[in-house]
Amino acid sequence: MNLTALETTARALVAAGKGILAADESQGTIEKRFKSVGAECTEGNRRAYRKLLFTAPGLGEFISGVILFEETLRQTAADGTPLVEVLTRQGIIPGIKVDKGVKALAGFPGEKITEGLDGLRERLAEYARLGARFSKWRAVIGIGTDIPTRTGLAAHAYGLARFAALSQEAGLVPIVEPEVLMDGGHTIERHYEVTEAILNLVFQALFDHRVRLEAMLLKPNMVLAGTECPQPAGVAQVAEMTLRCALRTVPAAVPGLVFLSGGQSDALATEHLNALNRAGRAPWELSFSFGRALQAPALKAWRGQAANVSAAQAALLQRARCNAAARSGNYSAAMETAAQAPA
Ligand code: 13P
Repeated sequence: MNLTALETTARALVAAGKGILAADESQGTIEKRFKSVGAECTEGNRRAYRKLLFTAPGLGEFISGVILFEETLRQTAADGTPLVEVLTRQGIIPGIKVDKGVKALAGFPGEKITEGLDGLRERLAEYARLGARFSKWRAVIGIGTDIPTRTGLAAHAYGLARFAALSQEAGLVPIVEPEVLMDGGHTIERHYEVTEAILNLVFQALFDHRVRLEAMLLKPNMVLAGTECPQPAGVAQVAEMTLRCALRTVPAAVPGLVFLSGGQSDALATEHLNALNRAGRAPWELSFSFGRALQAPALKAWRGQAANVSAAQAALLQRARCNAAARSGNYSAAMETAAQAPA
């Protein structure tokens, strides 16, 4: 294991003015997304869509890495070029989602646990051979009456730490993702409390499993009011509470936090990231690893039609550019209207 090389990759993934594109939707999730725009979820369409994203002209200016689903790691473009190579030609680092999704946690109604540790060592070795340089594991934590429990959170922390240790052993930078969902009627204070609890347990587990903090990235949720909460939180409050939560739980040795968007509208996710970077007192890079908040407008523009590829690429580049600007706190709403003005 060459930890120095892993540290270099981790830092490259959070290079100034760039962030990560999460394009690692499982078959079920991508099917749902395609359905929402009337596109058929065939193997060919999944390849066409992801190739469209990866070949957007100049994407590498704003995107440091892309998280792939296993199918994409093995796919080639129509001319035979592996999609991984399409990315590396853009100067983008390929990564891979390695968990096997969530199942019900036995004995704890309403709680979930992430599967995929069995055989992970062998799968990671193969992913590294296929060109992946980083990996991602997502723990999903819902908020409800009496949940999450301490046991549910500890099970997730253990899974994330096992994954991170195995990834570093295989020469892949682990992206550790404990996602506290925004679904529900909880207040922002409750979201803060659960996020703080899981981050504390995760870093204890990472220490116990001898994970090198400099050679990993954390992919946290922003601290938000629930989608059904009657008191919505403002941008400044979200940034302040998210930062406070991370300052109390995340060691400064971690090179970067790459936030997930979690179902926020794309412009709001960008505004929150911008406010986080404007606060200006963080020891880590504050970046993005957005799925929906980068892809939603591109998907809507594409709708499964080859004729819409350029429009979809322009939509992706627009979101990538806005989020890249938010990395330095230089995003403004004017960047959105400027893009809509006719050429
Ligand atoms: P969202 O930004 O759409 O939440 O996706 C990020 C991700 O990779 C979830 O695992």
